[in-house]
Amino acid sequence: MVKKKVTNITLTQADQQLISSLNSLPKGYWDFKDHDVREYTHGIHNYPAMMVCPISRNIIKLVNNIQKVNSIFDPFAGSGTVLVEGMLAGIKKIYGNDINPLALYLSKVKTTRLDSLVLQQEAQSLYNRVNEIYSRFTLQIDHSDEVMRRVYNLDVTARDGWGSDAPKYLREYKEKVLPDIDLEIPDFKNIGYWFKPRVILLLSLLKNEINKITNQDVKEFIFAAFSETIRFVSNRRNGEFKMFRMPADKVDQFAPDVIKEFTEILNRNIEKMNDFDKACANLDNQSVVSILHNNATTLEDVPNDSIDLVITSPPYGDSRTTVAYGEYSRLSLQWMDQFKMSDKEILSIDKTLMGGNKYRNGFEYTVPSATLRRSLERIRNIDLERAGDVYSFYLDLSNAIASISNKTKAGGYQFWVVGNRTVKGELLFTDKIISEIADHYDLEHIYTVDRNIINKVMPSLNSPTNESGMKSATMTNEHIVVLRKK
Ligand SMILES: C[S@@+](CC[C@H](N)C(=O)[O-])C[C@H]1O[C@@H](n2cnc3c(N)ncnc32)[C@H](O)[C@@H]1O
Repeated sequence: MVKKKVTNITLTQADQQLISSLNSLPKGYWDFKDHDVREYTHGIHNYPAMMVCPISRNIIKLVNNIQKVNSIFDPFAGSGTVLVEGMLAGIKKIYGNDINPLALYLSKVKTTRLDSLVLQQEAQSLYNRVNEIYSRFTLQIDHSDEVMRRVYNLDVTARDGWGSDAPKYLREYKEKVLPDIDLEIPDFKNIGYWFKPRVILLLSLLKNEINKITNQDVKEFIFAAFSETIRFVSNRRNGEFKMFRMPADKVDQFAPDVIKEFTEILNRNIEKMNDFDKACANLDNQSVVSILHNNATTLEDVPNDSIDLVITSPPYGDSRTTVAYGEYSRLSLQWMDQFKMSDKEILSIDKTLMGGNKYRNGFEYTVPSATLRRSLERIRNIDLERAGDVYSFYLDLSNAIASISNKTKAGGYQFWVVGNRTVKGELLFTDKIISEIADHYDLEHIYTVDRNIINKVMPSLNSPTNESGMKSATMTNEHIVVLRKK
């Protein structure tokens, strides 16, 4: 681990204490090689590029030892890791913000404490209802793939035929052979491409029964297990955040046990909630969590000068060429009615995230970072369009830094966990770029920690050229950039 100390600024006493604490940490301290990063509610649902939870836990501890932290904020909250840690630390006011509705949903579920006995009872009653229906109609449900093949003459592995008209065929089938059971077949773009008939019937059955739960918080908690199940039983290749489908022969063979998957995930989640609820119950302070749906470049719902500590991990770049958060969330958003989003809205989430604006034919450089400018000039000489993508991302990042600075109290700290990536052979030093931009917005860069990425779930190889087959190793380490509001 390399630690970089910034020397050419006037350090406050708190800065000096913080730097001295950071300097005294042993080698490899920030790597958290053997830590269970899925403990508490952190582990109830996957999300791309989740922050490794002990990072925020230890940052909160370090800063709290120096100055009291009463409010904490993550402007790019994702699935809510920082918010959960804020609660575990008993911080009074916690703000989390994101644009992706699935991220907001997960943040809410992970930070809403629920009694595990109530959850167990609801889950048991749900399992009973689902299993009772399934046992009465096993044959009709389990043979649906075969019926689509033989009776309807459809290839259930194809995009066209079954794929494009799946709801029509399945509704017809349901009316014929399952007229008495209460379930609605959803209709969204490409449902048949991503799910086989039997899987759709079982997910619809689960969804219908979950919808009968009257306690709203419990229902949302249980839907998070449903959302996680969706990914495992869909035809998408597991272990990847992008939407790639299994090859047709694999789809053909694929016969997931939907009810079992769901039951295992929900039981696991209840245990995790139980651990979390108990850990929070022992604290002196109870937190108030606000989850906001703002663009990080504006943050209109967060009060100005109100935040003691910001901990955040922004995206690494634009969604199209790095991590597509919207794409990852798509199937959950399409299946779950509570989001009330049209296919068009769901499919355009990624365009609304950082770097979504395209500067295809050049741009006027306004970001206050000399390091970025040099890199952009080199990329522009090779590929103007790619330079536009990169510029678009850093322009948003710069605007986000400006608005997050406005929200931070004077003397408050910000910890930015970032990765540097390569575009067209050019390594973009996001840690350095952030520190340069910060300087422009009343923020003092006081320290950078480098950590190895060991247990963060994200691709260690990406394709910076955006061509399949062209891989280059990037992001085997990340940086924690420490800033202080002047
Ligand atoms: C690296 S992820 C955060 C992961 C999070 N730390 C966790 O542990 O789950 C970055 C997040 O930034 C969000 N995001 C991207 N652009 C945004 C914007 N302009 N405003 C707010 N959130 C944005 C994405 O939706 C994504 O959830």
